[in-house]
Amino acid sequence: MGITTNCSQEVIDRAANALKSGHLVAFPTETVYGLGADALNEKAVRSVYSIKGRPVNHPLIVHISSINQLDNWATEIPSYAKKLARDFWPGPMTLILKRSVQAKDFVTGGQNCVGVRVPAHPVALALLAEFEKLGGMGIVAPSANKFGAVSPTNAKAVFQEIGIGLGINDLILDGGQSSIGLESTIIDCTNSYATIIRPGAVTIEHVNKSLHSTKLNLVEKSQIRASGGLVKHYSPKAEVLVNIVPKEGDGLIALSEFKTPKNVIRLANPNNSEEYAQILYSALREGDSKAIKRIVIIPPNGDGLEVAINDRITKASAKIIKK
Ligand code: TXA
Ligand code: MG
Repeated sequence: MGITTNCSQEVIDRAANALKSGHLVAFPTETVYGLGADALNEKAVRSVYSIKGRPVNHPLIVHISSINQLDNWATEIPSYAKKLARDFWPGPMTLILKRSVQAKDFVTGGQNCVGVRVPAHPVALALLAEFEKLGGMGIVAPSANKFGAVSPTNAKAVFQEIGIGLGINDLILDGGQSSIGLESTIIDCTNSYATIIRPGAVTIEHVNKSLHSTKLNLVEKSQIRASGGLVKHYSPKAEVLVNIVPKEGDGLIALSEFKTPKNVIRLANPNNSEEYAQILYSALREGDSKAIKRIVIIPPNGDGLEVAINDRITKASAKIIKK
């Protein structure tokens, strides 16, 4: 296994071939890094579950290179879902749709629906295109972290999370820092209306505008399993506390307008929500690498991307694991 910073066409070819031969490739996306496997190869997909320590009934997202591949994985696609796909792909949005026969139980966790996304990162798109040239149909890629831990937003974090579990023929592609920093928005499209089940950078406002909808699509509790739907998730080793006054020795994540109290360790200083989202996970990791016991987070208040930031902060700070 190796981390490769050079993502030349030659490296992309090697990575696509590795996937086609049943090996794993961790790759950058604009949201977070994913741990990729051939979505048709049961053995490879099972090793993704075991490296992550993820329960096998938690479904994986299938990544495809363009909307043209969608019919391979999904069927009876509602017109509003097609509209969302046209408006936001490639991009930070996953659609949950009725699965085609090709989407097997080992991908969907036994559910009749499948999650599909076209990522926007150039390395991810190049890898998908090359993989499809080799006859590949799609790449499953959960976030490349241990189950329940913080998603990696750069290659070094991937290595720290799962490097030890990877085999000699597996690869980590380094495509720099993920520009968004939070996982994709997941939209359940298995009903006659859209429901956001995981907020992300495609916001409620974006969805409403795209669908010319006047009613707000609230993030509803869904029967559909999403691991981010567990109460505790995205968690560092440190205890995470929200909206309290930090004490001496605590780590602090807050907008730059919030001044750092004396002897508190500033972990992030974002100027706006985009920067907040981008930096949140690396700041939590930095807290752990400094062996800080408590990280205090002052969340941003508001709509749009801040809904997703607050969702992750709430889960990172939760004390219980199960709903
Ligand atoms: O931004 C992202 O979505 C990243 C990058 C790598 O694409 N991937 C990601 O994957 O966050 P993961 O597995 O860490 O989270 C995907 C979520 C899980 O909570 C999973 O349960 C849900 O999507 N999901 C996937 N397929 C689903 C399905 N068929 N039905 C319901 N939920 C599904
Ligand atoms: Mg994840």
